[in-house]
Amino acid sequence: MPDLSDLTDLAKLTALLNAQESGKRRAIDEAEMAKALRGRVKGQDHVVDDVSRLIRLQWGKEERKRPIANLLFLGPTGTGKTELAKAMAEYLYEDEKNMLRFDCSEFSGPEAKSRLAGVPSGYVSADKGGQLTRPVLNNPKRLILFDEIEKAYSEVFDLFLQLMGDARLTEQGSGKVADFTQSIIVLTSNAEADAIGKLQAEISDYHEMVNAVKSHLADTKVFRPEIVGRIDRVYVFKPLEGMVIAEIVVLKMSSLAKEYGLELAYVDPHLIIDAMGKGNKLARFGVRELDRVINEDFGEAMYEARQAGGKRVRLDQDDDGGLRISPAN
Ligand SMILES: Nc1ncnc2c1ncn2[C@@H]1O[C@H](COP(=O)(O)OP(=O)(O)O)[C@@H](O)[C@H]1O
Ligand SMILES: [Mg+2]
Repeated sequence: MPDLSDLTDLAKLTALLNAQESGKRRAIDEAEMAKALRGRVKGQDHVVDDVSRLIRLQWGKEERKRPIANLLFLGPTGTGKTELAKAMAEYLYEDEKNMLRFDCSEFSGPEAKSRLAGVPSGYVSADKGGQLTRPVLNNPKRLILFDEIEKAYSEVFDLFLQLMGDARLTEQGSGKVADFTQSIIVLTSNAEADAIGKLQAEISDYHEMVNAVKSHLADTKVFRPEIVGRIDRVYVFKPLEGMVIAEIVVLKMSSLAKEYGLELAYVDPHLIIDAMGKGNKLARFGVRELDRVINEDFGEAMYEARQAGGKRVRLDQDDDGGLRISPAN
């Protein structure tokens, strides 16, 4: 035991404790993180790779006055924006439940700010706190997703500015200060989607395209310049190609099998592409409907395989493009 009456020893002890603290801080393995994210998000490697690098560098800082990262996700609906946010929360914060998601179309009126940051004391439900501040006060290790921010009430933008700039937000009522320096903020927007889609189709170089998108957003004044100034990265998600959709189908079939306690033997995505080409009904549904369709079409066979005591199933294609699940060994 160091002699605590001696200040030199106290300084040494403090240094030792600090070193232990920073030793405990988990360093991000960029390659491992990218691999984990790619396991859930297909066809957006340009985003996944860059975000993994950015997070490794930000996470490694010993002092931070801002959130770990402020990100803006753009691109067509159903391309994996929310999925990536969930995957990041799962990888970085242990569980995707540590993602807080807010649909800004519900924050279009003046009451929005008090829903997020609480109401002043004296009002009914002042003790409940805000829907944003309270969970972050309880656990600051959060990924916070604001969907369709262009629909938010203008005063909520002041709150975004404070979040992204100072990483602090005082809860009305309790007066407690929520700290966002361990959080990641993700904004998504559908504003100017058509124009962005056009730039995406026209400009093949990704960085050039993102710069064009940023100047377009600045020109059209969709977001206040201060907001844009606080965003670390703008990512534009690509429309999903056939092969990527096939990979997502395989992914969803594997997850369904897992839910039944089964393992799905390797499926080559080309098999799915092929079946879709032959008119398999999967081809008629958007990516958002895949969960439901796959559940409906393959749930029964998986259930039966499991009931029969099976552990593994396989997927085969009929001549007419039909897909079938059967027990495998
Ligand atoms: N790139 C992708 N990789 C894996 N799954 C995806 C991808 N894009 C969409 N999906 C699936 O489609 C559904 C909707 O995707 P989501 O991430 O919510 O889209 P959005 O880009 O509109 O946020 C989810 O169930 C997700 O699993
Ligand atoms: Mg989404």
